[in-house]
Amino acid sequence: MVSKIVSTLVAIAMAAFMGTGLAFADEDLAKVGEKTFKRKCKLCHEATKEKNKLGPNLVGIIGRKAGSVEGFKKYSDALKNSGVVWDEESLTKWIAKPKDFIPGNNMKGFPGFKKEKDRTAVVAYLKSLSAK
Ligand code: HEC
Repeated sequence: MVSKIVSTLVAIAMAAFMGTGLAFADEDLAKVGEKTFKRKCKLCHEATKEKNKLGPNLVGIIGRKAGSVEGFKKYSDALKNSGVVWDEESLTKWIAKPKDFIPGNNMKGFPGFKKEKDRTAVVAYLKSLSAK
């Protein structure tokens, strides 16, 4: 009887531990992504304020229709007419190789991330901003 209670408690403790472990892993990934974003994207994009640079701002990018920032005049027709709504999957493909995902786009200064880790980290960062 006692051992059953103990093993139940152990199971609960382990579940709780694994749960927080997962949350930490997500947060770590978003932190890595923030650094990568600063190095590779921030030159052209703000993600935390609605300010356009060489590229449109990325505030609330998850769930946003491609090419829909008002006041950003330099969108390509290719992006505007792509019919894409940004989610994790489309963002990951976009930053893997923009010109393959939407041919004729205007994000010429960024060829794409070869490393999967870079892609997932940056998308995790953008997602963490949307969650706030
Ligand atoms: C040299 C400047 C430059 C860099 C670097 C750059 N971008 Fe862009 N980005 C642009 C431009 C310009 C556009 C508009 C493209 C078009 O209209 O075809 C764009 C468009 C986008 C869009 C679509 C936005 C919308 O409103 O639909 C996303 C998402 C995006 N970039 C993410 C990123 C991410 C993430 C990085 C870093 C990995 C990055 N970009 C790096 C210039 C840049």
